[in-house]
Amino acid sequence: MLDINFGCPVKKVALKGAGAGVLKDVDLMVRLTDAVVKSTNLPVTVKTRLGWDDNNKNIEEVAERLQDVGIKALAIHGRTRAQMYKGEADWALIGKVKNNPRITIPVFGNGDIDSAEKALEYKNRYGVDGVMIGRAAIGYPWIFNEIKHFVKTGEHLPSPTIEDRVAVCKKHLHKSFEWKGPKVGIFEMRRHYTNYLKGLPGIKDYRLKLVTLEKVEEIVAVLDEIVIKYAGYEFAKTPIELINYHEKCPIN
Ligand SMILES: Cc1cc2nc3c(=O)[nH]c(=O)nc-3n(C[C@H](O)[C@H](O)[C@H](O)COP(=O)(O)O)c2cc1C
Repeated sequence: MLDINFGCPVKKVALKGAGAGVLKDVDLMVRLTDAVVKSTNLPVTVKTRLGWDDNNKNIEEVAERLQDVGIKALAIHGRTRAQMYKGEADWALIGKVKNNPRITIPVFGNGDIDSAEKALEYKNRYGVDGVMIGRAAIGYPWIFNEIKHFVKTGEHLPSPTIEDRVAVCKKHLHKSFEWKGPKVGIFEMRRHYTNYLKGLPGIKDYRLKLVTLEKVEEIVAVLDEIVIKYAGYEFAKTPIELINYHEKCPIN
């Protein structure tokens, strides 16, 4: 499938009229989408936001018009571009789009889902066909399985152990190294250690080492030390704490 991102709020994208910037010109959005749909046999989907700002929440019109030119599904992040990642996502408006009788394509809701309970509750309350998760999955990819398991059984999976977390963190480090090369790979990985190790008391000194060391073997050795030090540590259960990525996320 081809998924068009009309949701990116980042200045250098949106202020050029791309990403969420396209929400300011629905005619253009429709023309662009129509051109993509006509140029491929793949199913085309769209991810977007509620609108440009509080005075221009045009997602209801956008949904109908994009469906009319042939998109096969719509994912809605329940914030405006002006909100970036601040405030609460407006799920009532996502629900309104989903429950519009004119809308027949699947609608996925997105924004602030950080636990299995919340995923199920919001799916049921707003009638969406699925939920999408962003920030809560960063450093915590277990959330997807946790949700699937909870929806199926009504029970929570046990939290990942320190061994589980470090194993995934190491894999991420190796993939980052492989994909981006030693310098950038190690540098870009630095922002992730906090997320994988969130909740561990007294982790600060280890974290400082992780974000300053420059060799993979040295970083791996610190991660191994962490496993030994925190063996058997019981992590808090959901909901996992959300980090304010508006402040911390380098893409903004
Ligand atoms: C670091 C970061 C990178 C993101 N990159 C993308 C992206 O490439 N494409 C996209 O559609 N959304 C992207 N998003 C937005 C998320 O997909 C999601 O819409 C938003 O974070 C709200 O969901 P959440 O409350 O579950 O985080 C990004 C968000 C963050 C924090």
